Amino acid sequence: MYSDLKEKTAIITGSGKRSGIGYAMAEKLAACGSNVIIADLAVNSEETSGVKSATRNEMESITESLKDNYGIKTLAVDLDVMRTKSIARMIQTIKSQFERVDLLFNNAGAVFGAPNTVHDYDEGAWIKTVDINLHGVFRVSKAVIPLMLGKPGAIVNVASRAGKSPPLWNPAYAVAKAGVIMLTKVMAKDLAIQDIRVNAICPGLIMTDLQQFRIQKEAEVFGMSYDEAKERLAKTVPMERLGHPSEVADLAVYLASEQSSYITGQAMNIGGGALMEV
Ligand code: NAI
Repeated sequence: MYSDLKEKTAIITGSGKRSGIGYAMAEKLAACGSNVIIADLAVNSEETSGVKSATRNEMESITESLKDNYGIKTLAVDLDVMRTKSIARMIQTIKSQFERVDLLFNNAGAVFGAPNTVHDYDEGAWIKTVDINLHGVFRVSKAVIPLMLGKPGAIVNVASRAGKSPPLWNPAYAVAKAGVIMLTKVMAKDLAIQDIRVNAICPGLIMTDLQQFRIQKEAEVFGMSYDEAKERLAKTVPMERLGHPSEVADLAVYLASEQSSYITGQAMNIGGGALMEV
């Protein structure tokens, strides 16, 4: 599958947890023979975002198993997309081990603060939510693109359905993801002549730690059990189920491969029919 991806080098941000969308992308790329760089926050930021982050141990266990299972080159590297210095350190580490980068998956994301309306949203939480989801994509892209120039490549940014259609009580995240969609289009125009395609994907409800956290919050708000809240959410999707990270990874890997060679600047929905508008 996707033989053109063999021996390409891919950075996937936020890929250091086996339960997440980033890991699912890394696993599929590895299965296609790409070298994968697992870049993630290697400390638990639970007290700030509420969702547990990757750990150094899990990142290393991931790179070991991908290397053993697929015979590819791997690297686990610390990355905080909210800090320019951390990104610069990541670039130095990558340069010491890889000649170039061909594919970039801007997947890291989080929500800070309690779900709320705009007029009650905590200002600090708003700024951090926009910073990680939007400025994080800008910062990492700015640093990585110079390593990609000179050969064809692809960038896939993980936006969200929330970036196209306003969600309940999640305004900062929605605004940030809408920004990711526009940033994708701007980058696609900038880089088209360089043969680097840039697309976004807009997942709906995908079963990960992030989604589990949201379901727990909704259960509290609606006075339901976790399972009832999950069922309620699933019923909002025409396919009446939440998606699996590997289903999102299938789309992301397609957008990275030559099979999508004439697609750039798009923001594709993947949500069981939850959002049908372009
Ligand atoms: P997750 O919480 O399971 O994974 C997020 C990953 O990002 C974690 O590995 C975490 O350690 C990492 N991360 C957090 N802060 C970071 C930082 N400052 N620097 C570097 N890495 C950091 O979440 P999930 O669901 O896998 O989300 C992946 C992407 O998909 C995110 O951008 C999210 O917004 C997006 N998304 C998820 C949806 C869902 O239903 N799960 C729906 C729509 C979009």
